[in-house]
Amino acid sequence: MGKTVLLHLICGVLAVLSVSLVKADDPYRYYTWTVTYGTVSPLGVPQQVILINGQFPGPTLDVVTNDNMILNLINKLDEPFLLTWNGIKQRKNSWQDGVLGTNCPIPPNSNYTYKFQTKDQIGTFTYFPSTLMHKAAGGFGGLNVYERPSIPIPFPTPDGDFTLLIGDWYKTDHKTLQQSLDSGKSLPFPDSVLINGQKQSSFSGDQGKTYMFRISNVGLSTSLNFRIQGHKMKLVEVEGSHTIQNIYDSLDVHVGQSVAVLVTLDQPPKDYYIVASTRFTKAVLTATAVLHYSKSQTPVSGPLPAGPTYQLHWSMQQARTFRWNLTASAARPNPQGSYHYGKITTSKTIVLANSAPLINGKQRYAVNRVSYVNSDTPLKLADYFNIPGIFSLDSIQSLPSEGPISLATSVMPTSLHDFIEVVFQNNEKTMQSWHLDGYDFWVVGYGSGQWTPAGRKSYNLVDALTRHTAQVYPNSWTAILVSLDNQGMWNMRSAIWDRQYLGQQFYLRVWTSTHSLANEYNIPPNALLCGKAVGQHP
Ligand SMILES: *[C@@H]1O[C@H](CO)[C@@H](O)[C@H](O)[C@H]1NC(C)=O
Ligand SMILES: *[C@@H]1O[C@H](CO)[C@@H](O)[C@H](O)[C@H]1NC(C)=O
Repeated sequence: MGKTVLLHLICGVLAVLSVSLVKADDPYRYYTWTVTYGTVSPLGVPQQVILINGQFPGPTLDVVTNDNMILNLINKLDEPFLLTWNGIKQRKNSWQDGVLGTNCPIPPNSNYTYKFQTKDQIGTFTYFPSTLMHKAAGGFGGLNVYERPSIPIPFPTPDGDFTLLIGDWYKTDHKTLQQSLDSGKSLPFPDSVLINGQKQSSFSGDQGKTYMFRISNVGLSTSLNFRIQGHKMKLVEVEGSHTIQNIYDSLDVHVGQSVAVLVTLDQPPKDYYIVASTRFTKAVLTATAVLHYSKSQTPVSGPLPAGPTYQLHWSMQQARTFRWNLTASAARPNPQGSYHYGKITTSKTIVLANSAPLINGKQRYAVNRVSYVNSDTPLKLADYFNIPGIFSLDSIQSLPSEGPISLATSVMPTSLHDFIEVVFQNNEKTMQSWHLDGYDFWVVGYGSGQWTPAGRKSYNLVDALTRHTAQVYPNSWTAILVSLDNQGMWNMRSAIWDRQYLGQQFYLRVWTSTHSLANEYNIPPNALLCGKAVGQHP
C-alpha cells in the first residue's frame, strides 16, 4: 500500500469518526461571550451585576434543533465561573454540562469553549451561572430552540415571539449574599421581582395577531404567578414538551421552570399590564411590564389583574392540567406519545426527602441526611481518570432514614437504560423545586402528605408532561419517572439557589461497564483540569 493511499485511508477513518460524534449536516453556531461586572439600577439604585457581552440579562440564544453550539466563554470576573444550560440534555456529553461536578470552573482571565448540540430538542430553555451565588447578579438568559423546517409544530407559527425572564431580585450583591449564606444564615426575603432585568419592560404587537410569550423563572428562590390584563393565555409548550392547549388566566411558574403560551391581541387597542408576582409569600412582591398594542394611544390603567391568593391546592390542581399532547410532533418526526412510558416497569424507586438542618450552628440544606459539599476535582474527571477519594458511591441512600445529617460529596449510582421512579418528599413548610440535568422526566403525580406506594394509583400514566424541573408543595410529594438513557454524571439539585448552594443536591451517576462512544463521548481535548486532575491528559 502506497503512503498516499494509507493517508487517505486514515483521513477517511478520522472523517467517519468525527461525523459520528457531531453530525456534519447539522449547522454550527459560533459564539464568543465575555463575562464582566457592570452597573445597572433596576431598582433605582446602582448595583453591581454580571454582564455577558455587555448585556444584562445575557443575550438570548435563538437556535434550531440539532444545532452544534461552539461557545467560547471568557471569564473577566474576579472569581471562577461556569454557565449551565438549563434543560439542554447534553446527550452522551455531561462533559459540557457546566456544573462543578462535571467541569472545572473557568478561572478569572481565562476561557473555555463549550461544544454541545441541541440534540432532538425543541422549546423554551435558559442558561445561568452555576458557580457560587453568581446567579443573584445576572449572567442568565433565554435559550430558545426552534423546530427544524421538516418538523410541524402543533400550532400556527406565531406573529412574534417574546422571551420573558421573570425572577425575584436582591439589591444586595452576590458576594454579600454568599457571605451571609456562608456564615450560616438563610437567604433574606427578596427586594423585588424583575422582568428581563427591569421594572418597566414593554412588549409591542398588532391587534388581531398572536404572539408567543416564553416565560422562565430565573430567580433564586421564589415561585411566581404570571398573567396579562384582559388577555387569556393558551399553554402550548413546557420545557420542551408540547402540551394540551388549555386556556389560562394566570400561570404559576416555579424556580427554574419555563412555559410558552400564545396570546392573541383581541382587545381594544390600548396598553395592558403584564404581571409577575410572588407566590406563597407573606408579603407579595409584584413586577409589571406593558403589553402595548401598536395603535395604542392609551397608557396602562386600572387595577392590576388579580392573581391567586395563597391557594396551594389551586396551584397543585393547575399543575395536574399540564398534560402532553400525545398526537403533537416532537423534535424528531414522531408523535410525543408514541413512547408509552406508563407501560414500562420501573426497576427502582428513589425517595428523596429534603431537610434544613443546622450543622455546627449553621444553616445547611440536605437530601436523605446528606448535605452536599463540592469537591475541588469535578466528579466526572475523578471518574474518568480513576482518581480515588473524591466521591464514593454509597455516600447517599436512595430512601430517607432517621439519624444525623452528614456533609459529603454524594453520588448515587444507577445503571444506564434503567427506568426509575423518583419521589420528592417534602416534609418542610416551604415550596421546593427539583431539577435534574441531562434529562427530562414525566411528572406523573402530585400529592399531599407522606408518599406511600398507594400514591401510585393517582399517577397519570397516559399523558403526563415531560419537563426538567418539578415543584414540590409544602408537606407534599411529587413523583416522576425517568428513563436513564443518558450516560454521565448528572446533577440532581434544588433549583432554589440558596438550597443547592448549601447542600441540597447530589449527583446521579448513570453508568455502564461497557465503554462505547455510542453511549458517551470522549473527554473534550480542551477540558479544563483542576484539583487532583491537574497533570492528567484528556
Ligand atoms: C480559549 O479560546 C481560544 C480561542 O481564543 C481557544 O483556542 C481555546 O481552545 C479556548 N480554551 C479552552 C480551554 O476552550
Ligand atoms: C394536539 O396537537 C395537534 C397537532 O398535532 C392539534 O391539532 C391538536 O389541537 C392538539 N390537541 C390539543 C387538545 O391541544
